[in-house]
Amino acid sequence: MQVSVIVLAAGQGTRMNSDLPKVLHKVAASPLLHHALATAQSLEPSRIVVVTGHEAAAVAASAAAWSEVVDTVVQDPQSGTAHAVAQAAPLLTDAEGEAIVLYADTPLISEETLRAMLDARARHAVVVLGFRARDPGRYGRLITDGNDLRAIREFKDATPEEQAITLCNSGVICVNTQLLLSLVSEVTNHNAAGEYYLTDIVELARKRGLTAGVVLCDEAETLGVNTRAQLAEAEAAFQSRARAAALENGVTLTAPETVFFALDTWIGRDAIIGPNVLFGQGVTVESGSEIKGFCHLEGCHISRGASVGPFARLRPGAELAEDVHVGNFVEIKNAILDEGVKVGHLTYIGDADIGEHTNIGAGTVTCNYDGVMKHRTRIGKRAFIGSSTMLVAPVTIGDDALTASGSVITEDVPANAVAIGRARQVTKPGLATRMFDKLKSIRAEKAKGQ
Ligand code: UD1
Ligand code: MG
Repeated sequence: MQVSVIVLAAGQGTRMNSDLPKVLHKVAASPLLHHALATAQSLEPSRIVVVTGHEAAAVAASAAAWSEVVDTVVQDPQSGTAHAVAQAAPLLTDAEGEAIVLYADTPLISEETLRAMLDARARHAVVVLGFRARDPGRYGRLITDGNDLRAIREFKDATPEEQAITLCNSGVICVNTQLLLSLVSEVTNHNAAGEYYLTDIVELARKRGLTAGVVLCDEAETLGVNTRAQLAEAEAAFQSRARAAALENGVTLTAPETVFFALDTWIGRDAIIGPNVLFGQGVTVESGSEIKGFCHLEGCHISRGASVGPFARLRPGAELAEDVHVGNFVEIKNAILDEGVKVGHLTYIGDADIGEHTNIGAGTVTCNYDGVMKHRTRIGKRAFIGSSTMLVAPVTIGDDALTASGSVITEDVPANAVAIGRARQVTKPGLATRMFDKLKSIRAEKAKGQ
């Protein structure tokens, strides 16, 4: 079945009280817009069109960053949801099959719900996603007659009896694409808001002798973000879902409520995640690895059998091969650590390649930045980097080489060599006692003078 998804993202979002367009505010480390796009993509649609308006360029750039398969159109001025859908028409003139309309500010709609809507199209020409609202507020009300949906009434236009209805419109609809475009072209703005309401297509379809129906979902799924409080609510709802999904998929979470996932976090079966771990965008963790408490991970890959933390920070481009060990207070950025590498303590590894089974001593720093440019450190296999080595990049350490503790390494070290880059130790017998005696006598002189 061919599906086109239209994502409405033109609204201003005044109540966020923000310079950033509402749909670019983040939940689970990704803009709200990307949540809607991910949901859309789960249906493997032939087309995704995002309708932009307020801050159109920024929203379009974010859509393009998500994927080049997304098209954007601009709605100017923003005269209502039907008017927004109409802007996508030129891109959908020969689209066959179904159209689904999503809102970019509603991040929690599930793929299953959309599939249930596609199934319901066998029974109704227009399918609307509805929910029972605890507090129906200003949502559009669904006026039903048995299984049929007769109309959607916007709050502003509803009679007191209609306002008493608790079955509400989520805004998500599913209609044959060409029928949707035809219905939308008939919508007028003769209503309390003077806007072109997408919700009017229900009555327009019925006038043509077609039927409309409702698919129900949980209210939590339709949570729309209009305020910062709702943004926090959406974050909490996303996280509790993601934690439940991880547990279900065979991931151990010792303290699930303290772990924060990103929209695209991927964790394999039998991985163990300790307390207070935060996943930023783009993290993949293979089966059987362990992330200990208080780690902050972003844009990195952790292979099978690796262990990370506690208190480690993996930044974009950190690639840990199998059985790598990264310990406490270690930061890794844009670096490839081959199988069995150990970086146990208090270390910064940035812009580096480290060969298999190399051991990096405590306090080692890859000095990757000269103040203007970044440079790479290359370390071979089975090397031993002594504690507190400063590796001044660009620099290469050969296989099986060793650097002495406290060395500042500015020149390449060949394979099997030992490099010592530190001042030679000088030891003066008895000097400590003589120094302290002298200092004590100075103190005594000073005390007498007072
Ligand atoms: C809409 C529905 C209402 C439903 C509610 C659910 C209509 C007429 N009403 O009302 O029945 O209960 O959502 O949250 O559809 N947008 C545009 N261009 C516009 C106007 C809106 O792209 O000209 C986008 C917004 O960015 C937003 C979505 O459409 O993503 C919904 O717009 P909003 O103004 O929030 O509609 P509501 O009044 O909440
Ligand atoms: Mg709204």
